[in-house]
Amino acid sequence: MLEIKNINVFYGKVQALFNVSLEVKENQIVSIIGSNGAGKTTLMSTIVGLNKPAGGEIKFMEETINNQPTHKIIKKGIIYVPEGRRIFYDLTVAENIEMGGYSRKMSPKRYAEEAESVLAIFPRLKERLNQLGGTLSGGEQQMLAIARGLMGNPKLLMLDEPSLGLAPVIVDEVFDVIVNINKIKKIPIILVEQNASMAMNITSMTYVLEVGNVKYQGPSSELAESPEIKKAYLGV
Ligand SMILES: Nc1ncnc2c1ncn2[C@@H]1O[C@H](COP(=O)(O)OP(=O)(O)OP(=O)(O)O)[C@@H](O)[C@H]1O
Ligand SMILES: [Mg+2]
Repeated sequence: MLEIKNINVFYGKVQALFNVSLEVKENQIVSIIGSNGAGKTTLMSTIVGLNKPAGGEIKFMEETINNQPTHKIIKKGIIYVPEGRRIFYDLTVAENIEMGGYSRKMSPKRYAEEAESVLAIFPRLKERLNQLGGTLSGGEQQMLAIARGLMGNPKLLMLDEPSLGLAPVIVDEVFDVIVNINKIKKIPIILVEQNASMAMNITSMTYVLEVGNVKYQGPSSELAESPEIKKAYLGV
């Protein structure tokens, strides 16, 4: 459903992505791993049109999208939950979730049904609808950022380092949520992670970015057994 072919991305004169190709199939969870500065976020922001590739092509559901503005790409159903969980601190959980569905102009009834179906995946949020976003724990804020993204009715969900800065037990919860979204709502997901071992555990395909290049790619279970990947990314 998403097909990226040989894209090159520059910031000014500095090249950040080199001939990157990547594919996401219906219902798949794909991980993109790589160390700081590898180009993971650049790749995500290029998919949603915030950076324009200097060459190559991005196709989403058979349509070329790399020449389209961000709002149009989002409208087609590519929803990006950026790094650092940018939720609204001064709005309640319920209001934050509402913001996620804002551009869809739903009837109150439809909205209530959508919110209900999203909240079913996030029991922790359901108990905290009237709490201010800024007073949530880090893990709850991450859940809220994802829930808000889901309210945009994604056909493809892209999550940028959802485990960043969270304690291991909370990371487990967030990863369970990601698996559930894929299973229950049948949404394909791109998961950007530095936590390579956990990401490879829940994804079918993995791409490894190194200084803007796809250094390795393949089924996650196979890559997880490769000596190079083990040494460089799994700490064994
Ligand atoms: N707006 C920008 N202007 C100039 N250079 C940028 C910009 N954004 C990113 N870069 C550079 O592009 C390269 C890739 O950065 P990017 O943020 O994509 O990496 P990343 O893999 O997401 O890293 P991290 O794991 O730290 O989030 C880096 O060298 C970075 O300094
Ligand atoms: Mg990043």
